[in-house]
Amino acid sequence: MKVIVRDNYDEVSKEASRLVEEKIRENDELVLGLATGATPLGLYENLIDSYKTRGISYENVKTINLDEYLGLDKNHPASYHAFMFETFFKHIDIELNNTYIPDGVPASAEEECLRYEAVIDHVGPVDLQILGIGTNGHIGFNEPGTDPNSLTHVVELNASTIENNAHFFQSIDEVPTHAITIGIQSILKSDQVILLASGKSKAKAVKTLLESERNVNPDFPASYLWTHDDVTIIVDKDAYQLV
Ligand code: F6R
Repeated sequence: MKVIVRDNYDEVSKEASRLVEEKIRENDELVLGLATGATPLGLYENLIDSYKTRGISYENVKTINLDEYLGLDKNHPASYHAFMFETFFKHIDIELNNTYIPDGVPASAEEECLRYEAVIDHVGPVDLQILGIGTNGHIGFNEPGTDPNSLTHVVELNASTIENNAHFFQSIDEVPTHAITIGIQSILKSDQVILLASGKSKAKAVKTLLESERNVNPDFPASYLWTHDDVTIIVDKDAYQLV
């Protein structure tokens, strides 16, 4: 696991966008694994800027998102479909047909999970997966206790996750209790993983992640990243407090 420490959130976002741009320059048909949440917003802003000012094109790029709330239609403003469209996709030249996010209102959640895992295998494998990290060590919505062999599945969100994500909703009561997330095994299928973390609220999770090399365990799902051979974590000084 490679660790890059930067001064602040803006520098973390810059470093992440530099790495993504480099990958797209090398391979214009890149398959990018994307995350939602507050952490990648700066990365998306920088990528929009490099598309507009330096002509980094997404015409042939495909994206596969980590997760979607169960019960939210893609037109719901707090759905991850809407989040991705508003914060990234509508600003670049990507074909929306090449962007994949689980369906939040499937006829059968079980079938949707199978369909989405097949997307990961057939559209992917993901060349570069972007991750954030939950304060409880979740990656995607793989909450503590998740089976390391898990593929795309339905998850019941932890109280802490619901609380942390409530700011995207009018009130905490509106946050869905369940989501569809790609599994730990699905994440580990990616060729390369970049995990971003910023701010004091992530310091404990980053410390636990860095200390978990010899203690890979389901109570801290991000620890499974130690079983992958190409993971870079990019953190700011607030999130990197090892004492
Ligand atoms: C998002 C996701 C989550 C977030 C994590 C951190 O698609 O799967 O794992 O990356 O909850 O969220 P933020 O960035 O809002 O702190």
